[in-house]
Amino acid sequence: MGQPIEALAGTSSPAHLSGLDSDKFGIRVARTKASCSQLPAVVHWCRKINVKLLIARVPLPGVPARKTLIRNGFAQMDTLEYWVCNLRNHRDTIPMHHHEVKLAHQNDADSVRSLARIAFHGYRGHYHCDPRLPDRLCDEVYADWAYRFCLSDSMHNATLVYEIDGKPVGFTMIRRTGNTDAEIVLSGTSPEFRGRGIYRTLHGQRGLWCIERGIDRLVGSANFCNEAMTHCYQREGFQRLFSINTFHKWFIKQGSECSFC
Ligand SMILES: CC(C)(COP(=O)(O)OP(=O)(O)OC[C@H]1O[C@@H](n2cnc3c(N)ncnc32)[C@H](O)[C@@H]1OP(=O)(O)O)[C@@H](O)C(=O)NCCC(=O)NCCS
Repeated sequence: MGQPIEALAGTSSPAHLSGLDSDKFGIRVARTKASCSQLPAVVHWCRKINVKLLIARVPLPGVPARKTLIRNGFAQMDTLEYWVCNLRNHRDTIPMHHHEVKLAHQNDADSVRSLARIAFHGYRGHYHCDPRLPDRLCDEVYADWAYRFCLSDSMHNATLVYEIDGKPVGFTMIRRTGNTDAEIVLSGTSPEFRGRGIYRTLHGQRGLWCIERGIDRLVGSANFCNEAMTHCYQREGFQRLFSINTFHKWFIKQGSECSFC
């Protein structure tokens, strides 16, 4: 899925082609976490291999760097806030197994995809904020992401699903990132079941999954304008870690980018 920039542009900047984004939008999409000073090399690499859209996650730039980005065709789409929870401080509140939450398996991937599709319909993330990306396909990116994650049969990943009458209504995905660390990949509750504590329960079960594996540091992220998720992080005792901006840079003129617009 990833084609490292090192081989192509002679730099150590991290940039790779995104299989998920390219498949979904039908154009060549690359991603980078390069610093502002490394971006010219990344842009050069994108031009060389015919990338149409570059998604850049950039630590909060100062005003001069921001101006340079904008002058060079980068448009800011969102700001992600990262949160951390030290589960050791919450051991007393980690619940027992909850009968309505189950560990999803590969054969649940289709239903998890359908759930993610409705949970992320119209989500205010960087895809939906880009007027050049069709909303329907933006919803689908999250659905596919959830599907692929659920299919990836790894002992370091888990998809927990909250079911009501056998119907999945909420999910959370966790990836182990180290001996004692894990990250929250994606979570969502079906709109009609929101505000009933489903995510609260999933968070408790996620904590249990982590504690059982010796994981005590959990990192998650949310768009800064995602009030519900920000409330949930604060409610569950997470602390703000840092923020990062998502910029999009298109390499084709508006209106000519894709056959689906
Ligand atoms: C964020 C989300 C997962 C929460 O799921 P949920 O099952 O409704 O969560 P809960 O019922 O446990 O808690 C929701 C809390 O948010 C609060 N809330 C909802 N909308 C809010 C808003 N606009 N501002 C502040 N708080 C809000 C609710 O009052 C509730 O708080 P309380 O029970 O402490 O009073 C759900 O809203 C969702 O799927 N959103 C779309 C996808 C998403 O944002 N995913 C997270 C990023 S990956």
